Amino acid sequence: KATEIAVIVGSLRAGSDNRKLAQALVALAPSSLAFEFVEIGDLPLYNPDLDEGAPPAQWAAFRASMAKAQAVLFVTPEYNRTVPAALKNAIDVGSRPYGQSIWSGKPAAVVTGSPGGIGGFGANHVLRQSLVFLDMPAMQQPEAYVSHIADMFDENGKVTSPDSEAFLNKIITAFAKWVDAHV
Ligand code: FNR
Repeated sequence: KATEIAVIVGSLRAGSDNRKLAQALVALAPSSLAFEFVEIGDLPLYNPDLDEGAPPAQWAAFRASMAKAQAVLFVTPEYNRTVPAALKNAIDVGSRPYGQSIWSGKPAAVVTGSPGGIGGFGANHVLRQSLVFLDMPAMQQPEAYVSHIADMFDENGKVTSPDSEAFLNKIITAFAKWVDAHV
């Protein structure tokens, strides 16, 4: 049976290049992995007070979707050299109530995409800092700083350059092995 992977995209933009990047990775993945995109755009900002009673319905739905996942693929842009607030909020929502984190022990990969040349390096490593605390084994290699993503896709979202496709293939193949070793 295929391993269930939650894909979390850090951009809320309808035309997000990082979402295209995530879709391209999914398209190249081996059949040992089954993917579900879990959306984070409607989660109220984390406030522990709201976990005192019945939590907001969006939090409950997000936590339920994430509980089913066996591993997580993060694909995110960098905002001001760190992770977008929406992604950090999703991490916080999933990490609580205390002792009931939906992240614990799940293997992960961090892929960052940017139209610039640095490939979201800052966001990539800030996210990894949380993954250490959340006890998520994060794939180390290949490092996935994807630069110049605005030029990467044609109008159908297809990767145009064979070199880029080979790089994405390397990332998702390594992730499949990583997941296999850690679930
Ligand atoms: C950005 N962008 C950006 N890019 C980058 O490489 N490093 C950065 O620190 C930032 N900072 C930043 C802050 C804010 C608030 C925005 C809205 C954007 C540019 C960003 O990479 C670009 O908009 C991407 O296209 C975002 O990814 P999606 O939405 O296309 O997936």
